[in-house]
Amino acid sequence: MKFFLDTANLEQIREGAALGIIDGVTTNPSLMAKEGIEGRKAVEAHYREICEIVDGDVSAEVLSTDYDGMIAEGTALAALHPNIVVKVPCTEAGIRAIKYFADHHIRTNCTLIFTVGQAVLAAKAGASYVSPFVGRLDDISEDGVALVGDIVETFQTYGYDKTCEVLAASIRHTRHIIECMEVGADVATCPLKAILGLLQHPLTDKGLAQFVRDSEKLR
Ligand code: E4P
Repeated sequence: MKFFLDTANLEQIREGAALGIIDGVTTNPSLMAKEGIEGRKAVEAHYREICEIVDGDVSAEVLSTDYDGMIAEGTALAALHPNIVVKVPCTEAGIRAIKYFADHHIRTNCTLIFTVGQAVLAAKAGASYVSPFVGRLDDISEDGVALVGDIVETFQTYGYDKTCEVLAASIRHTRHIIECMEVGADVATCPLKAILGLLQHPLTDKGLAQFVRDSEKLR
């Protein structure tokens, strides 16, 4: 299971990278805007900086929604650093762009996936990752984790698991990560807090306190 950090915040990325278990980063226009990054130069510099901190795939999303715009932007983003994966929305233009990028050896992450059908089209076009949005489905009383499981199974049935990774996105809490592992997601992209939640257990805290007390007797 790979863990990506779902943030554009450099401090959080540095803190996560120091843990030594972070395999990549995902960003989106909302996360970039939250950091107050403005203008193409600043956006590109920010992606380069993220790539210097984390040795793994960094998803950088195109802002254009038309095919030509996506191709121009995605090509420029991919040229920034070998770790950049171009993030493309799951639309008709997006699927065409994913096919173009695959033919030109540029890796893509197809975002805003809410059905198995969308995931299959993206994988068939040559996406390296598909990103089903778990939390946003849960927000409207649907089952985000079940979608991740359905995509994993369908990919296995048709062999797309050999070329395309299922990246569970829109993860809101630690329980989501565990459930996504259980249904076989290849990657979960998460806030650092949700990953750190995996460490928490009262018996670990209690046991360590006891060991610390007893270790005094050994000194
Ligand atoms: C990452 O690839 C997605 O853009 C992100 O996980 C969406 O998360 P949200 O639904 O919490 O905005």
